[in-house]
Formats: sequence, C-alpha cells, structure tokens
Amino acid sequence: MLFMCGIIGYVGPRDAREVIIAGLRRLEYRGYDSAGIAVVADGRLSVAKKAGKLANLEAELATIDFPVAHQGIGHTRWATHGGPTDENAHPHVSADGRVAVVHNGIIENFSDLRAELSNAGVEFKSETDTEVAAHLLAAELLGADTLMDAMRAVVKRLDGAFTLVAVDIAGSGEVVAARRNSPLVVGVGEGENFVASDVLAFIEHTRDVVELGQDQIVRITADEIEVIGFDGQPAETTRYHVDWDTSAAEKSGFDWFMRKEIFEQPRAVADTLLGRFNTKGELVLDEMRGISPEDLRRINKIVIVACGTAYYAGMVAKYAIEHWTRVACEVEVASEFRYRDPIIDPQTLVVTISQSGETADTLMAIRHARVQGAKVIAICNTNGATIPRESDAVIYTHAGPEIGVASTKGFLTQLVACYLLGLYLAQVRGMKYADEIRIITDELERTPAMVQQMLDGAERIYALAHSLAEAGDFIFLGRHVGYPVALEGALKLKEIAYQHAEGFAAGELKHGAIAIIEPDMPVFVVVPPEGRDQLRDKVLSNIKEVKARGAYTIVLAEERDKQISEDADVIIRLPHLSTLLQPLVATVPLQLFACELATVLGHDVDQPRNLAKSVTVE
Ligand code: F6R
Repeated sequence: MLFMCGIIGYVGPRDAREVIIAGLRRLEYRGYDSAGIAVVADGRLSVAKKAGKLANLEAELATIDFPVAHQGIGHTRWATHGGPTDENAHPHVSADGRVAVVHNGIIENFSDLRAELSNAGVEFKSETDTEVAAHLLAAELLGADTLMDAMRAVVKRLDGAFTLVAVDIAGSGEVVAARRNSPLVVGVGEGENFVASDVLAFIEHTRDVVELGQDQIVRITADEIEVIGFDGQPAETTRYHVDWDTSAAEKSGFDWFMRKEIFEQPRAVADTLLGRFNTKGELVLDEMRGISPEDLRRINKIVIVACGTAYYAGMVAKYAIEHWTRVACEVEVASEFRYRDPIIDPQTLVVTISQSGETADTLMAIRHARVQGAKVIAICNTNGATIPRESDAVIYTHAGPEIGVASTKGFLTQLVACYLLGLYLAQVRGMKYADEIRIITDELERTPAMVQQMLDGAERIYALAHSLAEAGDFIFLGRHVGYPVALEGALKLKEIAYQHAEGFAAGELKHGAIAIIEPDMPVFVVVPPEGRDQLRDKVLSNIKEVKARGAYTIVLAEERDKQISEDADVIIRLPHLSTLLQPLVATVPLQLFACELATVLGHDVDQPRNLAKSVTVE
C-alpha cells in the first residue's frame, strides 16, 4: 500500500520529463522512498522508476534513452507495506502495457481485487495496491469510449482513500485523475495544464489553481480542463490564485528549507496577524463566517484535536482559551479522539489544527465530531485543503508553504491563530472588553520583532549544538505553556537529529523520570516570565533538582530574570512577554538547536528518515 505520496501529471508543449522531474523535486518532501515517471510519445509508453530518492531516478534517466513527450505522470513515494523497491515504485503499468497509473492513498479492498484479477490470469509485478488500479483501468478501457469513462468505472470498484492519475497510449494528449479523500489540485496554464498533489509541483509555471472536490474526476489536455463527479455529472469546482511565488519554494541561500522556514517566522507571524481588526478596533475573523456569533455564545465546551506539533500548539491554546473565555477546553491527539467515543454534542465547538490540512487522523476526528452535531473550526495553512473544506469555519495561518518535514513556522503561526481564536471567543462571549483584547493583540503585534531577536542569537545556539553533538540524550522541561514548548523541543530533536529526547511537565519529573538523569545530561528548562512567581518558583526548584543530580542545565529565561544564574550552565535569554505568549519566543532557540544538531550529525534535515510531510493515512 502506498501512502502520503507526491503526484504530478502534465500535458503541454514542454518536455514532460523536465516538468515532471522538476515538480517531483518540489514534492519530494511528501515522500522520498522511491520515484518514477511515465510519458506517452508517439503512441508508446515509456516508464522509468527507481528506489531511493529522486536523485536515483534522475541518474537512471541520464543513462537511458527516454523520449521527449508532451504528456506524462510522475510520483514520489512514502511506503509502508510493499518496501521501497524498484518494482513497488510508481507508475504501475497494466499487463497489456496500455495504461500507467500513479496513486496516493490506500485501496482498502485491494486484496479482493488482486485475487479477482489473479484468477482472471493477470500477473502482478509488485506488492502494491496501486497495481490493481492499473489492471482494472486497462480492463475497463476495453469497453469504454474514453479514459475518463474507464476511470469512472474503476473508482466505483475501489474502497478507501485515493488520488489516481493515469495516462493511456491511445488517449489523445490527455491525463486523467480521480480524487477521493486524498489531495489533488489542477494547475491552469496557457496552452498547458497540470494536476498535482499540491500547488508546489507546478508553481513555477502557473499560480492559477482549480481545487478539486471530493469524488471528482478531471481530464486535462493542453487546452481543456473537464471535471465530473463520480456520478458522471459535470462538477462544480473552485478556482483561485495563489498569492505566493516560486521563491517560497526555493531554499534562497539556506542549506535547508527548515532553516529558511525558521528564519521566515517573523514574517509568517506578522502575516498571520495582518488585517484582523476592523475600523472600530474589533477583532474580525473573516473566515469564521460559517459559524455565527450566536453559535459561539451557545457552546459550553471546546475540544481541540490535532497531531504532533499541531497538537502541541493545541495544548498552548487550551491554556489561553480557558484563561480568556472560561469555557472548558480539552485537547486531544486526533488519532485517539474518535476511538474513545468522545462526549460531543451541538454545544461543543471542535477546533482542529493542521498545517497541511490533509492529516488523516485529524480529518477523521472532525468528521466524527460533525456527525455528533458539533461545529468545527479549522486552523490551517493550506488553502482549500480537505480539513478546511470539511469544517464549518477556518482561520488560515499565513506561513506560506512549509516544505521542511519538521514543522517550524507552521507551529508559530498556529499559536498565533489559536490566540486570535481565543480572543475572538472572549470578545463574542463578552468575557473581555475591546481595550483588554487590544492590550493582548498589541503585545502579539510586537512578537515578530522578538522572534527576530531570537534569530539574531542563532550563532550562540549553533555553538551549543556543536558542543553537545555527542550528548545522545536530552531532556526538556516546562510548566504551564512551557510544557508544550518542552514537548515540541524534544520532538524536533527526535525527528531530525534522531536523538533520544523527552519533554516533561517539570513537576512530573520527580514522580519517576528524574531517575534517568545522568551526570552531564543536557536538560533544557523553560522558565516562566517574572510576574507568574508561583509558577516560576516551582520551575526554579525543578532546575535545582536536576542540577543536584549533575545535569547540564540550559535555561531559557527572560532577560531581566537575574535569579537563575547559579543553577544554569547556559542561559538563553528571552524577551519579555506575558506567560501565555511566551511559547512564541521560547520555541525558536529549540528549533535552531535541533536544526543545527541534525546538520552537525550529517542528517538530511528536510527529509528525515521514516517520515513524510503530511500523514494522509490513519
Ligand atoms: C512535526 C510535524 C508533525 C506534524 C503532524 C501534523 O515537526 O511536522 O508532527 O505537526 O504530523 O501535521 P499537520 O499539521 O499537517 O496536520
């Protein structure tokens, strides 16, 4: 089975191979276990595919005679079942050599289909579920007038989530794609058209996009785009213009996308705050239209569901929302949510946070919530993605595309959107007066400069990473909103530097985990701002506890905090912010640390092993 892959299809005057390989390079963050391409030229299908990163495919293409073509498809894969081999790489070709197919998602009933096809004499070349789609398509083409008709017949036989893109040697300059529960967009060019998993694949050619809906099939030629539903009826689509350009998809002199994205955070935070007030000084969230102020006044519980880094943003949001609105707020990992039969009703507001907007666990959680009658607000960075489409309202973060697999600017902008949502709820529910909201938003508006200040100190953090390159184990501690920051610091280190790193609520440590502290073990501690003295004093005690056991303490504390020096081996200074907003600055050095440590250790920071950018299966 094949998951979370990058897909592209092209029809137009350029050399399809060049367009497709360049597109796959931009999509490689979605999966990088193997890559492949199929083109049709002069009624012949040519396919090349290779295990490993795209570079392996490019090396292969350099040694073979691959035709110049004007119609083709490509794929970059993230595998689970069916290892990353040449045979399992996409595209897959039907037994008669007529059609080639690439696929993202899972065909859940593929075993049955495979058995049926095998009984009919079809020989399979791979272990993938995708290959059944290629054979089915070829079979349907025998009786169908067009590739689109055949695709329509095939999708009716498939269960699960899939985007399929196909070329047919008999088709006259066309690529056909189908979408169910898996992303697909169409790039509208002049005399050329594209289909892809996301806009990045064709952004250098066009910024005009048609967003495909659920259960739709599209046929592109160089001049035409035809969209129908799985029922065969012409379908409604949404067209939009992407407001960022190719520079957003380039490293622009940085060694990694991740590092570039860390350094983009001042702008990303500022853009996410932009235009949120009306002339009366009220907070306005335009995209909230699907949920009325009346709805928001009626709710008696908020449930936040998200995964990974986005979940940690949700943990911060819980503190802010409860503090500002006094509405009970739960936060839950999306993959656990629907399986415990959560108590949700029409008075529950479900908030979902997802950078990609395609995370399957999160998507399934909101579907479950909506069935129970809850309203759903999505916080999302990807225009038109499935999660915002299936939510009642959306607050877009304006981070621009996040390509590094480890989320950085995604996280900071999610925090900003969560704060805005919390304040908006407080405003609508009459819990805060406009001037109180203004004080907090004024502070928020000062944060881009503070994030920049943290970035200006990057060299010191890099030096720290070099000095700890051999450490091997890392602990991160925090209380209150410092706790999710600690979890996020540990996650970054795990995913890109492959280090053993754990985040704890600082007060929990003495209930067991403190036993793992060894002499010289690096322990990062986030200290709350002065003014939250009860909380702060407790954290200061926790620093003493680990220091007494020989830990090497790296303390993140405010510039004006003079009390911490004696127990801190290293102090990372933070500008002053109120407690709830402190994660916006405290996270930045932890991102820089992870990025540099992974670099020192020689890892591929943008494409860490075993991971893919968006997790489109449960
Ligand atoms: C960590 C990371 C993941 C994602 C998680 C949710 O750096 O990137 O933990 O945060 O997979 O992804 P989205 O936000 O796209 O739903």
